[in-house]
Amino acid sequence: MTEHDDSSPSHHPVIGIDLGTTTCTMSVWDGHQPVVLPGPLPSVVTQNPAGQIVVGRPPDDDSQPVIAGIKRDLGSEERLRLRGRQYRPPEICAFLLIELKRRAEAYVGGPVHDAVITVSGSAGEPQRRAIREAAGLAQLNLRRLLDDPVAAAVALGEDDRERIYAIYDLGGGTFDTAIVRIGPDGVAVLGAAGDPQLGGDDFDEHIVGYALRQIRERHHVDLSRDEHVRARIRREAERRKRELSTAETTVLELPLLTATVSATVPLSRRAFEAMIEPDVTTSLGLLTAALAAARAEHGIGRRGVDQVVLAGVATRIPAVRARLAGYFGLGPGDIRADLDPGELNARGAGLIAREFEPAMTFEGARPGLLGANLRLRAEMADPSPAPPAVDGGPPDLLPGVPAETPADFRAVADAAHRVLGAAMDGARPGLRAAYLSFVAAIQAAAPDPRLAELGEALRAEYGHLDGLV
Ligand SMILES: Nc1ncnc2c1ncn2[C@@H]1O[C@H](COP(=O)(O)OP(=O)(O)OP(=O)(O)O)[C@@H](O)[C@H]1O
Ligand SMILES: [Mg+2]
Repeated sequence: MTEHDDSSPSHHPVIGIDLGTTTCTMSVWDGHQPVVLPGPLPSVVTQNPAGQIVVGRPPDDDSQPVIAGIKRDLGSEERLRLRGRQYRPPEICAFLLIELKRRAEAYVGGPVHDAVITVSGSAGEPQRRAIREAAGLAQLNLRRLLDDPVAAAVALGEDDRERIYAIYDLGGGTFDTAIVRIGPDGVAVLGAAGDPQLGGDDFDEHIVGYALRQIRERHHVDLSRDEHVRARIRREAERRKRELSTAETTVLELPLLTATVSATVPLSRRAFEAMIEPDVTTSLGLLTAALAAARAEHGIGRRGVDQVVLAGVATRIPAVRARLAGYFGLGPGDIRADLDPGELNARGAGLIAREFEPAMTFEGARPGLLGANLRLRAEMADPSPAPPAVDGGPPDLLPGVPAETPADFRAVADAAHRVLGAAMDGARPGLRAAYLSFVAAIQAAAPDPRLAELGEALRAEYGHLDGLV
């Protein structure tokens, strides 16, 4: 046992976030290695019956409104609706990041102000800008936006000898591939390609179309325009798709789709593979494009690839692995399988995050950002208690840390808005004084560093007003 093993881990409070279409996964450096935080966060935002925002918990029943797969909408001007409200994509993304920040703070036992966040390699500037905005709304200093396949490559670790890897990252919503060289000098991308609209979600959609056709033939009813029905079939399709990675056949159970229609739709692995065949072919075409770039610029062709690395959980589909192995003329066993494809990118982000010094506070002083953050936090439901650890290890969120709850912030936000609104109305010296004492109270409330942080942020944002602070 080394000296290090005796000491309790000291987590580096700059976090690595793999912001996925389906799932968000985080990792932090514990002094020895990047540790993936337990309990990945499903990338879903819903609303409870009280109208509060619930993050990361798929809806209990079909009547609950849900926004999933926000990563694919980033950079668009779309408006996303929940009951009675609409949001821009960066705001929905911010809900996820606020929850991730909260969990990370509970895990490391102190404030977290900084993050490295992954982005699809093929994302354009609008998407990247949207993530920057979302990070600001979550009061996170975005230290680096890391392309997905680079994150996966970084996670493989440096090597004494140079090796060429083909990274194939097929997630829920985006596909990324890159040819990378890893050696003593770090990671170099030799060629990359991707499709920001290709992933497991599309496979689910193929199954939905198939099921709807089966239902039309058997029940003589076209349910394809019923969004509610589609959502139900999609959920079942996703579940059965996962089953088909280990089973040869499955059945979609769809009781009471409408008052008169219940359906069971058998689905074989073969039929599913046929449905996704064009998508897999598209992904291999992109891999060819990445290889062509690597060849043109670095003279590295298909035979120069030492190892194929799978990232993204949709690579669990046996047909995907088989096609990829066939493409490189390898056996399926030759593809690197010792790494969890669901954790690779988060590990890479955590490794890069380690390179940054933690900041004392959130540094984005754009006026209005703090107010926007408080508004979003005030809309969120209190988090449910952390689930107990599965393997008897430490609980998901360490006890003893006063995990900030949105309820705390609702009170603070109400007070802040009341007092700030009045303080900025120049004719109210009494209220300005109230504002001053409000900020002082917040700052005095340290040792909870989050309150001091809020005070600092208020000072940064509103301190210029008549030299109030
Ligand atoms: N055992 C399985 N077999 C097949 N597909 C699976 C399996 N488990 C999960 N999936 C699919 O993998 C996808 C999620 O993969 P992952 O978590 O890597 O995506 P993500 O990182 O959230 O998204 P992205 O990187 O595309 O933005 C989903 O479509 C899910 O249905
Ligand atoms: Mg991913």
